[in-house]
Amino acid sequence: MMQGKSILLIIGGGIAAYKSLLLIRLLREAGVKVRPVLTKAGAEFVTPLSVSALAGEKLNEALFDLNDEAEMGHIQLSRAADLVVVAPATADLLAKMAHGIANDLASTLLLATDKPVLIAPAMNVRMWLHPATQRNLAQLAADGIQRIGPDEGDMACGEFGPGRLAEPAEIFSAIAALLGNGPLKGKRILVTSGPTHEPIDPVRYIANRSSGAQGTAIAAALAALGAQVEFITGPASVPPPLGVNVVKVETAAEMLAAVENAAKIGLDAAICAAAVADWRMAEQTSSKIKKTESGALPALQFTENPDILKTIANWGKNRPRLVVGFAAETDDVVRNASEKRLRKGCDWIVANDVRPETGIMGGDENAVTLITAAGAETWPRAAKAEVARRLAARIADALGGQA
Ligand code: CTP
Repeated sequence: MMQGKSILLIIGGGIAAYKSLLLIRLLREAGVKVRPVLTKAGAEFVTPLSVSALAGEKLNEALFDLNDEAEMGHIQLSRAADLVVVAPATADLLAKMAHGIANDLASTLLLATDKPVLIAPAMNVRMWLHPATQRNLAQLAADGIQRIGPDEGDMACGEFGPGRLAEPAEIFSAIAALLGNGPLKGKRILVTSGPTHEPIDPVRYIANRSSGAQGTAIAAALAALGAQVEFITGPASVPPPLGVNVVKVETAAEMLAAVENAAKIGLDAAICAAAVADWRMAEQTSSKIKKTESGALPALQFTENPDILKTIANWGKNRPRLVVGFAAETDDVVRNASEKRLRKGCDWIVANDVRPETGIMGGDENAVTLITAAGAETWPRAAKAEVARRLAARIADALGGQA
């Protein structure tokens, strides 16, 4: 599928550099030509010999090499590939890219290239969260640089959090999508994600513990398989993924309006991962509710929100071919979720057990049971990114692609 394509792979310096060796293998097995470039720091973590042996290509390391300049100059090198991939992309490399610094071969190639660039960042969690890195990432996103990961989890430095290099298979999928070969190419998929906030008065609101992490991971996984993703998100605590069309909303009513708008040009699938508030205030007030002298408590009146999943599942001829809901349950997960599938009229329900002791709501892992017309299928507990990839692959299968 990716046969004959060519990738310029820049390997930065980081403990995760060994994963780039696995990536080279995956790419070569798929018939992709890999031209490796190792930074000086990268060469401290993987040996030039293993990189060039696996790639079956000469390794490029130095900016000024008379032989190289005679054979293939660095400008040409930066343009010969179909895609430039930086894995691992260190904080230092990202900073150079964001500022246009070109003081070694890797950074010069990145400045000289006219090809799409995919970065797979990897660094310590503090370095990742540092405002300087976040500023650089925002700049790179604005410059049209594609990004995969980082994942969240235990890190080699002993800390925990975002900063771990995406898995080679995940980077491979992102590459496949960018080369225009993903199994979901040409498919338009809607994903709702995050909580909704329902105002009580101008300063207070009803919310829930959803972080938006699972919906975000699903959107990223679908995009990595080549789907055009319409991502409609409530006020989530994780940023939306790159490579998707983002619409930010606050309330369930706004989410439904955004969904209806996105559906105007037809959807192949809808994945409702949002934790939509079931109720909102019956009356909107523009004044803050005050305490009373007598100590009387406010009598809040609620009304039910529109059920977005049910609405989509009952669209008739405009209904997407595949409608997937989530079920957050605390008891009798499979039975409740199976009933929910029928009640909502959706095709699949991804059920998860959100009892507090599972740590799933707001956590970075998920343990799900997929409920379809064929029955219930329990998946092993895994990182939300892994659950997302598995679900995206199933969606690709159901829509007729091959993951
Ligand atoms: N959902 C929705 N709109 C709503 C409520 C829920 O689209 N107003 C969707 C969610 O995105 C999810 C599914 O419905 O895909 C199930 O959400 P859940 O909160 O588990 O179910 P509820 O319908 O709220 O049922 P209950 O709270 O009674 O379990």
